[in-house]
Amino acid sequence: MTDTSRLAVCPGSFDPLTNGHLDMITRATRLFDRVAVAVLTNPGKHPLFTIGERVAMVRQCVSGIADAHRIEVDTFDGLLADYVQRRQAVGVVRGLRSTAEFSEEAQMAMMNRHLNVGCETVFLVPSPDVAFISSRLVREIASLGGSLDGLVPPAVATALAERRASYPPIRV
Ligand code: PNS
Repeated sequence: MTDTSRLAVCPGSFDPLTNGHLDMITRATRLFDRVAVAVLTNPGKHPLFTIGERVAMVRQCVSGIADAHRIEVDTFDGLLADYVQRRQAVGVVRGLRSTAEFSEEAQMAMMNRHLNVGCETVFLVPSPDVAFISSRLVREIASLGGSLDGLVPPAVATALAERRASYPPIRV
């Protein structure tokens, strides 16, 4: 029988996953039947966490979301538009934290639809208490020994603390 459930892709580097990502993934599960959290294999040249570490952290943390059984964690490489097509997803979900982010995100959304005419992008506005969080700032705060309370799930805070203890300094 044909699967008519609507799959959305939440793509990202997740280096590392933050509470902002969890907020977006949770909201996506309320709109779509299934959600694929797609972790980019090699963001930039030197991600702080390996692809295996990032996937493991995302898996552990999304398992706490209600309806976690409708979420899968996957990896992708190459073009997002191709991944969306391969997965027969209805499109992409991205969090939109500010107007400053909008122009770049809109450009990406249009490019992805140019590459794959079926690839729509849905922007979700985050909860205000996580709207200021970014993975880059989290890495910087962790590298300087600051508090990560409220910024990342406990498992990610532990991983960042371990990384700082074993390989200082954390590359931002
Ligand atoms: O978490 P990020 O770093 O903001 O995620 C960015 C991501 C992974 C969504 C973006 O870099 C991406 O889609 N990369 C895949 C390569 C690609 O498709 N490039 C063309 C984008 S229009």
